[in-house]
Amino acid sequence: MRLFLPESLKGAKNVRLAVFSDIHSNEPALRACLAYADHVGTDGYVFLGDHVSDCPDPERTLELMREAARRKKTWFLRGNREDYLLDYVRSGAGTWKPGNASGSLYYTLKRLSKEDLEFLGRMPLNLPLEFEGCPRIRACHATPTNNYVLLYPGAEALESILRTMDENTLLTGHSHFQYRYESRGRQAINPGAVGMPSHGQKGAQFAMVTCLGGRWSARLLNIEYDREALLKRFEESGLADMGGVYTRAVMRTFREGGNWQGELSLTARKLSQSRGERAVSDQTWEDAGRMLGL
Ligand SMILES: [Fe+2]
Repeated sequence: MRLFLPESLKGAKNVRLAVFSDIHSNEPALRACLAYADHVGTDGYVFLGDHVSDCPDPERTLELMREAARRKKTWFLRGNREDYLLDYVRSGAGTWKPGNASGSLYYTLKRLSKEDLEFLGRMPLNLPLEFEGCPRIRACHATPTNNYVLLYPGAEALESILRTMDENTLLTGHSHFQYRYESRGRQAINPGAVGMPSHGQKGAQFAMVTCLGGRWSARLLNIEYDREALLKRFEESGLADMGGVYTRAVMRTFREGGNWQGELSLTARKLSQSRGERAVSDQTWEDAGRMLGL
């Protein structure tokens, strides 16, 4: 097949990046995305954070990421899940335990080595990505200065970042909502979530981001992978037992779609407030789960 390129693009630099966010320890999903990206060809990988927590294989996920970095130029950002873990370890609190309230995080932390935590701790909050002949990109987990703000197309939080940042392309994750949004000649690209589907999606989402002729564009992907194998890993790894009702909600999301862990958190918080609790108690988590049939 012959490819017809406009004169202006002949000989122009072409850079292609595979962008992954919110893997959440879902190793089979990441493996499928990496295989796809390698098959179509990529010059590098960008990991936007929330690499671990919620699914059964944090240490295998980090190993896959390090393996990727040995093959190609790779950028790692830190997400809010990494912040939870790192802050908890630094605080020396030692309060997480198996069960409804903190079992899933406890499980994740137990699986990570000192080297894994150091690896996460070296990851920055935002990074510039620079390539010859292409405009510079700004990459982050949520916003360049905050790991918790959710950015949605058209909302003021995103508009104000696009207006004020030095670059004209932002790579952002965190919301698990896949989109490319353009405003006043600037754009935000959210690759969606590799490992924790939401907004009615079930597959593994990521983006191939390409610079051609000095412009960045994005192809948003949603690919199939072996979810049955993933669900089996929840059981055999011990997470299904240790993570309590929260993990049961996550598993239900993988089976049925939806966002059961989000529903559960909302229900538990409301119930907790009505009971005058300072923090959501183990019993309240359990009761909220029962209300949702978990
Ligand atoms: Fe996040």
